[in-house]
Amino acid sequence: VQGALWGGRFAGGPADALAALSKSTHFDWRLAGYDIAGSRAHARVLHKAGLLDDAELAGMLGALDALDADVRSGAYLPAESDEDVHGSLERGLIERAGAQLGGKLRAGRSRNDQIATLGRMYLRDHARIVAAGVLATVDSLVEQAEKHLGVAMPGRTHLQHAQPVLLSHHLLAHAWALLRDVQRLADWDKRAAVSPYGSGALAGSSLGLDPNAVAADLGFDSAAWNSIDGTASRDVYAEYAWVAAMIGVDLSRISEEIILWATKEFSFVTLDDAFSTGSSIMPQKKNPDVAELARGKAGRLIGDLTGLLATLKGLPLAYNRDLQEDKEPVFDATDTLELLLPAVSGMIATLVFNTERMESLAPQGFALATDIAEWLVRQGVPFREAHELSGAAVKLAESRGVELWDLTDEDYAGISAHLTPEVRSVLSTEGSLDSRSAQGGTARSAVEAQLAELKKQLAAA
Ligand code: ARG
Repeated sequence: VQGALWGGRFAGGPADALAALSKSTHFDWRLAGYDIAGSRAHARVLHKAGLLDDAELAGMLGALDALDADVRSGAYLPAESDEDVHGSLERGLIERAGAQLGGKLRAGRSRNDQIATLGRMYLRDHARIVAAGVLATVDSLVEQAEKHLGVAMPGRTHLQHAQPVLLSHHLLAHAWALLRDVQRLADWDKRAAVSPYGSGALAGSSLGLDPNAVAADLGFDSAAWNSIDGTASRDVYAEYAWVAAMIGVDLSRISEEIILWATKEFSFVTLDDAFSTGSSIMPQKKNPDVAELARGKAGRLIGDLTGLLATLKGLPLAYNRDLQEDKEPVFDATDTLELLLPAVSGMIATLVFNTERMESLAPQGFALATDIAEWLVRQGVPFREAHELSGAAVKLAESRGVELWDLTDEDYAGISAHLTPEVRSVLSTEGSLDSRSAQGGTARSAVEAQLAELKKQLAAA
């Protein structure tokens, strides 16, 4: 076949159906720049090994530069007959360097070690873009947290009122999760920084090429120590897909809350017009589509991960063509996040909080019952009994349709002699919040310390 990378032992070309099935240029072309960078590095080690002379190296690098420029400008594109990015670029190289010189570049490398390397290069670059997008989202949360320091809201478990918390504390809980995702990407990069180039088809090369020189040239920390592992493993891709899915899930959890908070019933937030949408039929509608798309795309990101894992499961060593299916999931994962993160961070940065409503609801629903119990503990009452007594106060208040602070001193005294009028010191949102001042608590002082630590870790991320 014209321009194919193989064919010597075949009598005829592939069936059209096979060629169509086999083709990957429609998704691997985005690796073209990395393929050319790999080719430059490979040319240099061929030269170092005495397999290209000085003039040949210069000619090769010149032709690769010309090809690179044409790929970038769009003047060179994969042809219908090209199977993949590697074959297409070899055709382009030969067009520019001639068959004699251009045909020398393939010595000592295989598409198997090439593709494994290029995917890592691509993902390492995009991990940085994704990390920057996550950090921008964390910044939005931090800005909102700083702006609203001191504002109380109902803290929930089981979506029911539980205990008052600071809005900043709640927002920073999301920030910590996202910060860990950024830290995960940085940690992942250590494992991604190993280059499979030089692994050949699976067994390494006999030509005296230096894999570590190629690795260094391409920005890796080292070359792979096992050529079979280098060509057959995709755990680094799967780990990337996992982190991407986790980021998706973390964004989805924030989004679900924003969707709830924006309802009439909650009325905790107003979305900025620039980050909400209308309805084609209902003129009054203002919809949280950014948050809903974030929630929806989390499903897609989980699908990218599970699809890739399913592809890997059961593959014998070393390279199998199934591995061509490794790229679309990770490309989709990174494309999805790169699209999503700016929208989510913009939505969060422009949220307007209805702080009055949040504050007034903070202590409601008997959210201070734990404070009564813990106050009793500080008076020496065993927690088991304190829990019962506070529960009795809730029962009484509920039967009257009032809140805990509406009960009289006599009501409290009637429940237990331990419940003196001093209990009122904790029957306010402020008292409740202030008392939770240990590290990690929701007291303003603890949240300020938390902010300082978070910012320290952000600066290091
Ligand atoms: N296009 C293939 C992939 O994406 C790389 C080529 C390896 N093909 C082969 N027949 N060994 O994985």
